[in-house]
This record gives sequence, structure tokens and C-alpha cells, in this order.
Amino acid sequence: MIHTISLIAPRGNVLSIKAAGSGPALLLLHGFPLDHSMWLNQLNGLAEQYHVIAPEFRGFGQSTLDDPTFSLKDLADDVEFVRSHLAGDQPIRLCGLSMGGYVAFEYWKHYRQHLELLILANTKPTADDEAARAGRVKMAEQALREGSWPALAGMMTKMLSTTTIQQQPEVQSFVEEMMRRASPEGVAAALHAMASRHDFTKLLPTIETRTMVITGADDPIAPPAATEQWAKLIPGAKYTCIANAAHLTPLEQPARFNDLLLGSNGQE
Ligand code: MLT
Repeated sequence: MIHTISLIAPRGNVLSIKAAGSGPALLLLHGFPLDHSMWLNQLNGLAEQYHVIAPEFRGFGQSTLDDPTFSLKDLADDVEFVRSHLAGDQPIRLCGLSMGGYVAFEYWKHYRQHLELLILANTKPTADDEAARAGRVKMAEQALREGSWPALAGMMTKMLSTTTIQQQPEVQSFVEEMMRRASPEGVAAALHAMASRHDFTKLLPTIETRTMVITGADDPIAPPAATEQWAKLIPGAKYTCIANAAHLTPLEQPARFNDLLLGSNGQE
């Protein structure tokens, strides 16, 4: 059974978290512009093996946005706050997808002593170039001016594979509804935070934490060829490309994704 936990973070913002199950802690960090719902297949499907914990980033889902100027390091601090309250003294498995992956890199940099496993899904270690930054600023302005959906609709084509759209049309409407729910203020704040994120490429060879890197065969945001290249820079990292999936592998191929996470616990 999934339950909701609300924590008041040191800076006063309310962090909303969905949790299920018991066992080793598995923290799941959602992508942009999504919320905990993208992890429902993992909250439901992995609860017998893990204490699954899915926090929502500031300004997304039920988490509040008290100060719109935050960095991805601030989001990693929120994750550490959640870990310290919900995971006890046991090392955690941390899985971040896309923007959640950018936060997972920050978490690794500052809090790696708590990590038993780092799972980087559909993400990349690089920072934005000038053009990407300018695009984010424009998108943030549009979201605040016209509302989230007009600014975000163009992203929809990058989220799901053709196979998903054809064979699981309900997943497409589920994702669209999630994106439509995103608040303009949360969207704009996250875009600014992503635009000023650090480049982790040079640090990849220093990652000593056990790491899994996952992407989708049709992901245009974290394409397999580039993802496999940077995954090779992390000593011993296990790289997997999931077929018939694009950017949202845990939603598009939940059984395959969950098997990989179970395998990380020696149960695949
Ligand atoms: C995400 O899924 O979190 C976004 O695609 C990340 C990004 O815009 O860089």
C-alpha cells in the first residue's frame, strides 16, 4: 500500500513523499516536468523487496515552492533530508531519471557515503550549452505567461517511443495529464535550476559507488550511443539499454525496469 508522508524541510518548504513496502531503502527521483506518479509501477511492483520512497521535488506534485530560486544542489539537500528521516542508518539505493538523474549526480557528489547503489536512468552528466540555456529561459517565461501546457506540449514527442504510443495509449494520456498538472511556477523554477547545473563528465571516473546506467533505445534526450559512452567512464558501471522505450523507461517498460532494480538486489 502506498502512503503519503509530508516533511517540512529546514528551509520551510513542504516535501511530499510517497512510500511503500519494507526492506532496503530505494529512493526514486522523478524527471521534469513530472511527479511521483511516474514511479507508480515501482511503488507497487517493488514494495515486497524494497522500502520504496518517491519524494516530489519542490513545486511538483504536492511539494510546495516557497522560494523559486533553487539549485539542483538544494534538491539534493532535500533528498538527504528525506533519507535522514525515512531510511534510517542503512545505505540507500538512489535512482534518478533525467532531471532526477542530475539531482542524483549532486547527491553522489555531496552525500555518497550513504549510497549503496546509484542508478542513473535516461539522464546525462553534461551541463547545458548556451543554446539549451536560452531555450530553457524562453520556456520558463512562456510557462509563467501562458501556463505550463503551452510551454511543455512540445516535449511530449520526446517522452515515449512509437511502440508505447501504439501499444499503450493509456500511458500517453497518463503522461500528458501529469505534465498538464505541473504548476507554471514549479516548471519555471526547475528550468532555471537545470539551466545552471554543473557538468559531471570529468568526475565520472572518480565514481566509486556501484552504479547502473539505464536508457531507452529510442530516447532522444539520453540517446543510447552517447549514454553507453559516458557510462563506460564510470568504473564497473553496468549499462542497459531497454528496447521499445524512449525517455520514460520505468513507465514504458515497467517489468523490464523493475527486473533491473531487483537484479541490483541480487534477485534478477
Ligand atoms: C527530464 O525528463 O527530466 C528532462 O527531459 C530533463 C531535461 O530537460 O534536461
